Amino acid sequence: MKLNIALLAGDGIGPEVIDQAVKVSDKIAEKFGHDISWTPALTGAAAIDAVGEPYPDSTHAVCEAADAVLFGAIGHPRFDNDPSAKVRPEQGLLKMRQKLGLFANVRPTFTFPSLIDKSPLKRERIEGTDLIILRELTGGIYFGERGRKDNNDTAFDTMTYTRGEVERIARKGFELAMTRSKKLCCVDKANVLESSRLWRETVQAMEKEYPEVTVSYEFVDAVAMRLVQWPNSYDVMITMNLFGDILTDEASVISGSMGLMPSASVGEKAKLYEPIHGSYPQAAGKDIANPLATILSAAMMFEDFGLTEEAKSIRDVVNKSLAEGVVTEDLAEGAKAYKTSEVGDWLASNI
Ligand code: IPM
Ligand code: MN
Repeated sequence: MKLNIALLAGDGIGPEVIDQAVKVSDKIAEKFGHDISWTPALTGAAAIDAVGEPYPDSTHAVCEAADAVLFGAIGHPRFDNDPSAKVRPEQGLLKMRQKLGLFANVRPTFTFPSLIDKSPLKRERIEGTDLIILRELTGGIYFGERGRKDNNDTAFDTMTYTRGEVERIARKGFELAMTRSKKLCCVDKANVLESSRLWRETVQAMEKEYPEVTVSYEFVDAVAMRLVQWPNSYDVMITMNLFGDILTDEASVISGSMGLMPSASVGEKAKLYEPIHGSYPQAAGKDIANPLATILSAAMMFEDFGLTEEAKSIRDVVNKSLAEGVVTEDLAEGAKAYKTSEVGDWLASNI
């Protein structure tokens, strides 16, 4: 297969982890006879420095022309404590999601047999966890009306959803549930929020189209608790943008390290793959960040192109590296810590 992939490394550790994903993907391409061409483009603080905005039109053009986008991370501390900054790297990410129409963010959480004891949660609670949080990504409070009033003394952000927005993400949830254990949990706050009541009524109305799927409705506060108590009880979950942002960080604790969990963002046409972690600026340039989340994101990309064997090869070699202790410092716990690039080299040479 011939694939044209846009490569948006971004900020902080982004370029380092992206390099490893490219290394591993190129090895997969060589082994299975594919032809991948990578087209790099600027995003985040790196793009602000170069051209004054975090998601320039030139980058959008590269993404639109590509079969998929592989994304590293964005964010830079010099913007975090500067409320006056007019342009922020994160705006680039939001603009990209919106312009590419990436309305569904697929964030799986699973455990690795060799890492179960690295999780702060008890083995018996997390063993066998295999859930997917489907986060709505281009609506809700992230994109609602916002502003200041009363002489700048009041600030507001609004959470708005249309029935159509809920339907399209819910449909993805139902379809995904049909390929798995046919369980779907709709996470909302329908006891308080009107937009959540619209979610619930929309999903309820769709249930008859998917009679085989068992749907449960849970409030987000209760889910926050149950997710770490009994993660095993969940399979496919759908939720709005903000709740999904929070719950997916929480869920990543189950796997043992934030550096492990991949994600895909998909729309009608565009596809983007990225680790769920951020730009980890403290580690930038040190060759110590865990590249596995990005490498596993590349595996999701192969899977979505129907290249199941290729995806499996990546997951298998990742499991092997974990079992053999070829890990970065976040997982080394006193044992030898490998460099980011060494982990990438090891994986590529073991494919
Ligand atoms: C994420 C991140 C982003 C989000 C930030 C960087 C804008 O936390 O992808 O989860 O909130 O969506
Ligand atoms: Mn987040």
